[in-house]
Amino acid sequence: MDYSIETAPLKELQCDCIIVGVYQDAPFYSSASDLNDSNQGLISNILSRGDLRGKNGETVVCHVLPDTGVQRILLVGLGEKAKLTSKNYRKALLAAVNALKKTPIKSVVCTLAECEVESYDWQWKTRACIEVFNDALYQYIETKSNKEAECKLEKLSIIAPDVELHLAQAGLAQGRAIAEGVAFTKLLADLPANICTPTYLAEQAIELGHKHGKLEVTVLEESELQALGMGCFMAVSRGSRQPAKLITLNYQGGEKNAKPIVLIGKGLTFDAGGISLKTAAGMDEMKYDMCGGAAVLGTLSAAAEMDLPLNIIGLIPASENMPDGDANKPGDVLTSMSGKTVEILNTDAEGRLILCDTLTYAERFNPDVVIDLATLTGACLVALGRVPSGLLGNDDILCNDLLAASETANDSVWRLPLWEEYQEQLKSNFADLANVGGKDAGTITAACFLSQFAENFRWAHLDIAGTAWRTGQAKGATGRPVPLLSQYLINRANG
Ligand code: BES
Ligand code: MN
Ligand code: ZN
Repeated sequence: MDYSIETAPLKELQCDCIIVGVYQDAPFYSSASDLNDSNQGLISNILSRGDLRGKNGETVVCHVLPDTGVQRILLVGLGEKAKLTSKNYRKALLAAVNALKKTPIKSVVCTLAECEVESYDWQWKTRACIEVFNDALYQYIETKSNKEAECKLEKLSIIAPDVELHLAQAGLAQGRAIAEGVAFTKLLADLPANICTPTYLAEQAIELGHKHGKLEVTVLEESELQALGMGCFMAVSRGSRQPAKLITLNYQGGEKNAKPIVLIGKGLTFDAGGISLKTAAGMDEMKYDMCGGAAVLGTLSAAAEMDLPLNIIGLIPASENMPDGDANKPGDVLTSMSGKTVEILNTDAEGRLILCDTLTYAERFNPDVVIDLATLTGACLVALGRVPSGLLGNDDILCNDLLAASETANDSVWRLPLWEEYQEQLKSNFADLANVGGKDAGTITAACFLSQFAENFRWAHLDIAGTAWRTGQAKGATGRPVPLLSQYLINRANG
């Protein structure tokens, strides 16, 4: 998709369709009123005839009289003017792109950013157009024989007034970068586990490194992980024929000595559960257990595209978790890189095992903050459903920064407590700690486990088990939390 900003008057434009928003209870905004005037009151007629009431998400495509540069107008309901929240603005955008999907329309001009959205400027409104369009137009075709695009759309121009051009351009650049990062994450996540192996993830990271001068990628092999003493990570990988990889992405956009922000993403390319084998129903979805890793790649891609003046380290422990004669077993005791010993009570709690060694490894980067993201617990779905990601951490400022970023990015998170009382559940008779904490508060005890390896830095954990992909008919990756993390990085770069 080609995205651009347009400041020329509407009547000078050539395109297949102009998208125009109409309120349920307020007069036309300027482009809408111009178009209405230049088309003999077409829009007000449609409203007065009752074909459109202006409710948020309603759409009508109308064809315009010949000999204008524009062929069609897509009217989109915005709802009540006073209630045009950021969410409702995005809803209207989504309705617009969905209405265009099954049409032959190739080029569109969008005027929706002209409406006022509570507390957001032209930069945000422009960026949202691109994010929503690109997300809705994503189509997985990689392993299908029919590679024809479902939608013919090729070009989106966003109308902006001259005085806002600067902000709109900034929004365009951010929108492109974030949308591309999201699409990259979705594709990696949607790929099946027989293609997207730890080796494949490493290759993708290396390729990303080749695209960006400030991004350097290195991959540690199993022998090196062993030498580092990553006993927990290695134990998870032992039952798999696919070699584990620890991928490091080093983005140097900031001053040489500035402490880096470290992002750690769980890159479990298939989670069968190991000896504590999962049940068959829905096991295919465990190809998504690398969504944290994919989101680290997508976020680093966005950061590099935006050329953010920050130092960022991405770390992705990549592995499978399979049952095998050589797999780790319940009751096994492992020694982590930190020296702490861990009793495995359930081999399906593998995410925390590959993450704990990676957290210890992160110390060598002298991080400003560490944020890990992982499809870590089914319990997170029970607690929070598929709306927010779970947020836990040992630092209130970092957690609040993430909460603030999540609002702007429309990529919600909800904080859960990490009180020391919960640590009790991880006690083991045979090791320093157990890898599971019983059936209560599973998301919290998983984070408690991680917290024991994050004592030397400010740290937050995002449990994205409910938000990284959709299940059922719309099964597919969401690309979350790339928007949230990108926004967090933008905010850090600005302040
Ligand atoms: N990858 C899963 C978590 C998961 C489950 C994510 C379902 C999304 C949907 C993780 O490795 C896992 O298996 N966790 C166990 C932990 C338990 C054994 C303490 C779980 O949630 O059941
Ligand atoms: Mn598991
Ligand atoms: Zn898992």
